[in-house]
Amino acid sequence: MAGLKIDGVTRRFGEFEALKQVTLEIGNGEFVAVLGPSGCGKTTLLRAIAGFEKISEGSITVGGAEVSGPGRHVPPEARNVGIVFQNYALWPHMSVAENVGYALKVAKVPRAERGRRVQEALDLVDLGAMGERRPANLSGGQRQRVALARCLVATPSLVLFDEPLANLDVHLRAAMEAEFADFHKRTGTTIVYITHDQAEAVALADRIAVMDHGRLIQFATPQELYARPANAMVAHFIANGIVLPATVLGEEQAGKVLVDVLGEQVVMDCPPGTGPRPAGVCLRPADLRLADSGGIGVAVKRAVYRGGGFRIEGHPVLRPDLEIGFDLPDPARLAAGEVARLAITGGWVLPAGQE
Ligand SMILES: Nc1ncnc2c1ncn2[C@@H]1O[C@H](COP(=O)(O)OP(=O)(O)OP(=O)(O)O)[C@@H](O)[C@H]1O
Ligand SMILES: [Mg+2]
Repeated sequence: MAGLKIDGVTRRFGEFEALKQVTLEIGNGEFVAVLGPSGCGKTTLLRAIAGFEKISEGSITVGGAEVSGPGRHVPPEARNVGIVFQNYALWPHMSVAENVGYALKVAKVPRAERGRRVQEALDLVDLGAMGERRPANLSGGQRQRVALARCLVATPSLVLFDEPLANLDVHLRAAMEAEFADFHKRTGTTIVYITHDQAEAVALADRIAVMDHGRLIQFATPQELYARPANAMVAHFIANGIVLPATVLGEEQAGKVLVDVLGEQVVMDCPPGTGPRPAGVCLRPADLRLADSGGIGVAVKRAVYRGGGFRIEGHPVLRPDLEIGFDLPDPARLAAGEVARLAITGGWVLPAGQE
């Protein structure tokens, strides 16, 4: 087990910066998810940690030892870092046990020790009885677990996952999520887990690193990302928060401040030191309530049934240029063309300059 320190890491491909000054410290035994839109640099970051990618600036330290830095690049096989990819590429002509033990065989580990370590790794992923099977005779989830065992057999101090569940169907994903969480609990391995599925990240991770355009935007617990997003991108990306323009009217007191949102005055949470200024605010479902009168008017464009309730989409009557979407439990009495009254009961003022 080992912690991981990423310090000011930049990776350039020609002129293009795929990673920009990324700094991140992960504790021993922590489960960290890296989340962000396609092309934001997640895989590049992971490949840099594993040593498949040289970095242009900064340094990477695993378990206290620098593995990437100025004039230094420890090769992947000497890093003691395990990696599990989305397409797990098992050898079809080898049994499960042979797949898992292949790297040990190449490294000339004696047969008896190899057998013992393969069995341990298979037991860890709950496939102890399936060593003789061929990959073709396994389910997708079992194959993914073989890939995990193949990574674990080398007893890595840090395990990296790159979208390991992206090829699995919804039910299998949920089952595998539970298995990864359980595996982490049992072994205490430090895990960096890449996904672009925020529900998966929230379900699994102690902390989540949100990336955008090569930058680390926020590194925090799922609760913190939800309640106190660092900018509008995080507010949208995590659980589809509503971001509206607003004006801060007062000075922050005990973490709260008075804000004007489209003519409504609301007391909201805010960063320390917030004072009067134009601002973006992030609203969550708990901050909104359908009202008979008062509140902001929302012209309903669409009401889509989503099992157990409706997703309402429309725009504020005062700002037809803004989109606003929220969920209403069944039975909902709103249809396209109507004006809904939405009372705002709370929210979060985005940090200055981040609206
Ligand atoms: N070898 C390379 N040469 C040039 N550009 C590259 C190279 N590898 C990655 N990139 C670019 O760097 C950016 C980040 O790519 P990366 O694969 O890290 O994204 P990602 O966040 O993993 O995306 P996805 O969610 O689609 O997997 C992209 O714009 C990509 O085109
Ligand atoms: Mg990727």
